[in-house]
Amino acid sequence: MSHMRVLGIETSCDETAAAVVEDGKKLLSSVVASSVDLHTAYGGVVPEIAARSHLEVIKPVIEEAMKKAKTSWSEIDAIAVTQGPGLIGSLLIGVMTARTLAIAKQKPLYAVNHVHAHPYACFITETGSNFKLQTSNFRYELPKAAPEFPLLALIVSGGHTQLVLYESHKKYTMLGQTRDDAVGEAYDKVAKMLGLPYPGGPSIDKAAQKGNPQAFHFPKAKFDNVIGPTYHKEFGVVKNGCQSQSDYHFSFSGLKTAVLRLAQAQTGHDYTFPSAKLPEALSDAQKADIAASFQRTAVKTLVEALKKAEEEFQPKSVVIAGGVAANQELRKQAAKVLSTPLLVPDIKLCTDNAAMIASLAFYQQHRADPCSLQPDPGLKM
Ligand code: KG4
Ligand code: ZN
Repeated sequence: MSHMRVLGIETSCDETAAAVVEDGKKLLSSVVASSVDLHTAYGGVVPEIAARSHLEVIKPVIEEAMKKAKTSWSEIDAIAVTQGPGLIGSLLIGVMTARTLAIAKQKPLYAVNHVHAHPYACFITETGSNFKLQTSNFRYELPKAAPEFPLLALIVSGGHTQLVLYESHKKYTMLGQTRDDAVGEAYDKVAKMLGLPYPGGPSIDKAAQKGNPQAFHFPKAKFDNVIGPTYHKEFGVVKNGCQSQSDYHFSFSGLKTAVLRLAQAQTGHDYTFPSAKLPEALSDAQKADIAASFQRTAVKTLVEALKKAEEEFQPKSVVIAGGVAANQELRKQAAKVLSTPLLVPDIKLCTDNAAMIASLAFYQQHRADPCSLQPDPGLKM
């Protein structure tokens, strides 16, 4: 059987990434250039800076991915690109690059939904013979076997918090999602209040290790009678506008405000105290306790919903994917309560990368027209 090699391209936010993946599972190369350092000074991603940075590095990033994979253009069978969701200026660079390459090199083009692709980092189970699993900085740890369907996936990133039940590569049901902030966004905003460096997820994760998670008790959002898209026990039946199971919806904006009010109170001020002054008013010990207590509530919220969905739908595999899946506490707590095998991508493949894009493209084969594909910043799953 002949193999299928896909070149994946990802530019939805601040990472410019390219990867070569064979048959959706064998990683030949994965290159990620992040403009995160350029955004740190602003405490968040600046869309214009991200777009300009993609433009500057996309060509060398793709060339490096091809070189590392020891792959020539004649060995590439298709090009896959993130169509959305994401920042319009960022998506545009990836989509236009992929379209141009597809036309110039006469390759089929596949359009991929970034959120749908996150769990596909777990379908990567092998590496090519040239791929270095271990470098001086890190070691890749890949799952030994691919996830099995039905697959329950918790997709948690800076832009998304979704619980999805996949029946197959093409058929899935959204069980619930965030009504406001994504959990990664809450991590980033709380970190900013505490004066911890951007991105906030790894900073909070680190600070929390020195703090007491029981120091403060923050409220957990609850939903009653949410109206919205709903699931049906028989897979794939999604009804719009029906009363939905509220256990699988999330909200993190109230938690973020609760952290702000507590931090203000801890410094002896009321709600009018500017959040920008909190980092200098709080001690390191207070920051660590707030980080640990916030993280306990955020992780508990996610893990409880995941456990409930596991009991209800009895999946064969559970995957946690997206940038927040890099969180050690989330991995630990989920592994503790779940009875289904839990798969979490290697940390390098949790955050945005192009390997997951190339993998999903192989399984989904969603063809796009290289002459007309447009980025879609609000693309839904
Ligand atoms: O998937 P990703 O790279 O980009 C999006 O699609 O959003 O996720 C980035 C998010 C950021 O909010 C970042 O703070 C969060 O993932 N993150 C973490 C950790 N590492 C990254 N959150 C919690 N703990 C971590 N260790
Ligand atoms: Zn992402």
